[in-house]
Amino acid sequence: MVTNSSPVGVFDSGIGGLTVAHEVMRQLPHESVTYFGDTARVPYGPKSPETVRRYSREIASFLADQGVKALVVACNTATAHALPTLRESLTMPVIGVIEPGARAAVRATRNGHIGVIGTVGTIKSGAYERALRAIEPSLRVTTRACPLFVPLVEEGWIDSEATRLIAEEYLAPILREEVDTLVLGCTHYPLLKPTIASVLGADVRLIDSAEETANETAAMLQQHCLAASTTAEPSHRFIASDDPLMFLQLGQRFLGDAIESVEVKTLG
Ligand code: DGL
Repeated sequence: MVTNSSPVGVFDSGIGGLTVAHEVMRQLPHESVTYFGDTARVPYGPKSPETVRRYSREIASFLADQGVKALVVACNTATAHALPTLRESLTMPVIGVIEPGARAAVRATRNGHIGVIGTVGTIKSGAYERALRAIEPSLRVTTRACPLFVPLVEEGWIDSEATRLIAEEYLAPILREEVDTLVLGCTHYPLLKPTIASVLGADVRLIDSAEETANETAAMLQQHCLAASTTAEPSHRFIASDDPLMFLQLGQRFLGDAIESVEVKTLG
């Protein structure tokens, strides 16, 4: 049975969503988190919407069986393709990363021209444009898929010269269009913040939806009377669909000691 002390489920296609899990743990220190990273099937970015929806449903159903009280879809691509399906099929509250990121971008922009970068799947879905225009129809939105950023981060090429050159190429249209706010619409991109910021210059604000999503997760738990007690001691679980050792090593880069061990669960 789900109670206030049940964990919050967080999932991503791999380890990138730990940026969101980290922010949930920081902002909600009494909440337990059960994180699932689909490392066996990453990346989701180039996959079809149907496939990403199927994977997302499998993970959500697994996390529901683990007794989570709410679900945070930390993956932008899964949010873009599967959020409505998950909201329809699950009885627990579900939050994605796109609406919180869009709200933060609209608050930040001064010239009404917002850029969005993400995976091919996220950009093709048009989900960010829809979320932004639902808040403010007069916005100008410029989008750009940056598929090479994910493997660069996975390889740890965070501040290499090659990464900078690729960023210059990808971000040239964003610079040309005089965007003043850029949404980092992919779990991995916050790790490239220094490179992206140095290519775009100090006048462009970078929006990392992890912070905003954690903030809205707190509000969602309150609204559903599901928040953990302020005396609760959290206990976190990390589950990967492949190679737990790799997950542990990379995960410690994101979370330090908060991640001590990784379980394995194969889905599909
Ligand atoms: N987690 C994905 C996202 O935020 C990036 C990695 C992938 O392509 O699976 O869109």
